[in-house]
This record gives sequence, C-alpha cells and structure tokens, in this order.
Amino acid sequence: MTASSAAQHRFTLADWDRKASVRSKPDCFELPADLDRQLLTQDWFPPAFLPYLAHPLIQGLGRATQQRLAANHLVYFLDYTTLLEHKIVNRAVETLVHGDLAMAVPRPMRTAALQLYTDEGYHALFSDTLAAQIAHWYGIDNRHRVPQRIRHLLALVQRTAPQQVPLAWFFIGFVSETIIAKELLAITRDSLIPCVYHMLREHLEDEARHSRYFCEVFGYTWEALAAARQPAAADLLLAIIQVFAQIDGQWLHESFASAGIDPATRTQVIEPLLQPQAWAQRARANATTTLATMKKYGFFEPAYNRQLFVDAGLIDG
Ligand SMILES: [Fe+2]
Ligand SMILES: [Fe+2]
Repeated sequence: MTASSAAQHRFTLADWDRKASVRSKPDCFELPADLDRQLLTQDWFPPAFLPYLAHPLIQGLGRATQQRLAANHLVYFLDYTTLLEHKIVNRAVETLVHGDLAMAVPRPMRTAALQLYTDEGYHALFSDTLAAQIAHWYGIDNRHRVPQRIRHLLALVQRTAPQQVPLAWFFIGFVSETIIAKELLAITRDSLIPCVYHMLREHLEDEARHSRYFCEVFGYTWEALAAARQPAAADLLLAIIQVFAQIDGQWLHESFASAGIDPATRTQVIEPLLQPQAWAQRARANATTTLATMKKYGFFEPAYNRQLFVDAGLIDG
C-alpha cells in the first residue's frame, strides 16, 4: 500500500457515536400484544427475501401458509444472523484488530473495527431476542441445526492452508458485509410487522456503514497482498461468494413440511432453486457490491482472476 493511496481512505464508521444502533436507538424488540390483528394485514418478512413465495403452487395455498413459511424463514434468518455476527463476521474483524494480516493497520481502521465488532454483538442480541419470541409463537422447534452457510464457511476455513487462514477470514468478512447490506436493502416499511421492520431497519443502517468500511479495507488489503499470493486469494474469494449464494435445501424442505405442504409440491418448488445455474445467478445478483468493489481495486486485471470468475458465471467474459 502506498502512502498516497492509503490517504484516500478514511477507514471510519462515520459518526458512529451518534448513529450506531447500539449507541443511539431505544430497544423495542418485543412482539406486540395485538399480533393476531397485525398479522391480518402485515407480513413477517419482505417478499423480496423469499422469491419462492411467488411460485404459483405456493400462491395457491393461501395467506396462512405463506405467513407460516415467512415466519419460519425469519426465525432461520435471525438465528443465522446471530451465528454469523459472532462466529463469522466478528472472527473476521479480529484479524484486523489484532494484526493477523501481514500488513500495517492504520489507527482509524483498528478503531472502526472495534466499533464494528460492538455493532455486530448488538445485532446478534436483537436477532436472538426476536427469533426466540417468533419461534415460541409458532412452536418452531428445529432451531438446533447450524445453518448450511455457516457450516460451509467454517469448513472452508478448516481446509484452507494455515498461512492463508487470516486472509480467508478477512475475505469472508468482506463478502458477508457487502452482501448483507444489499440483502437488507429489500426492506420496506409498507407491509412489515412494525417491530420486525424496526429491527431490520436498524440493522440495515449499521450495515450500510460496515459495507463502505469493508470495501475500503478490501482495497487496502488487496494492494498490500504480494502478487504471488493473489491467485490463491482469488480462489478463496470465489469459493466464499459461492457459499453465500447457497440455499439450505434440507432446511427449506423442513420449513415447507411444517407448513403442511406435501412432498411433491415441496420438490417442485425447491429443487429448481438448488440447480447450479440458479446458484450462479443468485451469486451474481447478491454480490453486485462485492464484485464492483473487487473491480474498482483491480482484482480482475490479472488474466487468471478474470477467467476464474468468467468460468464461474459471475462476470461477463
Ligand atoms: Fe450486522
Ligand atoms: Fe456488519
């Protein structure tokens, strides 16, 4: 990293003391007393999060079934978030705070990493608080299994060469933080149960700051990485982006079954989502910020990196 390019970055979470949810927002994550009435007109989760709800076979099942599927998915998403924040994102942030990457960490970058770590701890708290209440309301009892994405990310780190492990953690943080901010953008006030909306909205506002920060740190890290390490780093980034586009088919079958959907319908709706082409399309759509940031910092200039991502269907040739 040259002194001049380092100076282009601020490496801060802008106005964190005034704007971070954990510093400035009152806690209001209790389900309302009139939940039954709210559920007549309000949704648990933005339909944009759940494209399978638009399938004609699901549309034909009526509102109560669709709401149960959305509640299942919200609880799964919140449980996933709690694990992601603690075991994945904050693990990635530790590599910056404790200097595990072979590069200098400017003071503002380190301070912002510590602030971000605090934010994620709060996100885990409010995600867990709401998940427990919704799970209780519906009697959702399959929350013990670790979501597939988390299992696959941990397995990916385990099979990474020891000298690459800190970099793998940082890249997982970068991909996760640039993808979650985009996912949360799908939230609109219009149709959501208000306490869910407020929780997702607070998360989104924090994540927009986190995404900008991780993009800057990615640029700094990529420039600092020796050219000889870049091909292996490119392999890692591709594998991580692909994990974040996975659908947990086993869990989805369980969710559909709990809503009383028969096995033939489940297979018809779920199996197309698991096909490689659907997977690549999701990866490309989820990772637009991630891929744009990589492009901005010259990631696709080496022929190896470019071809790798073209072959995977993530960028055009
Ligand atoms: Fe978060
Ligand atoms: Fe975050």
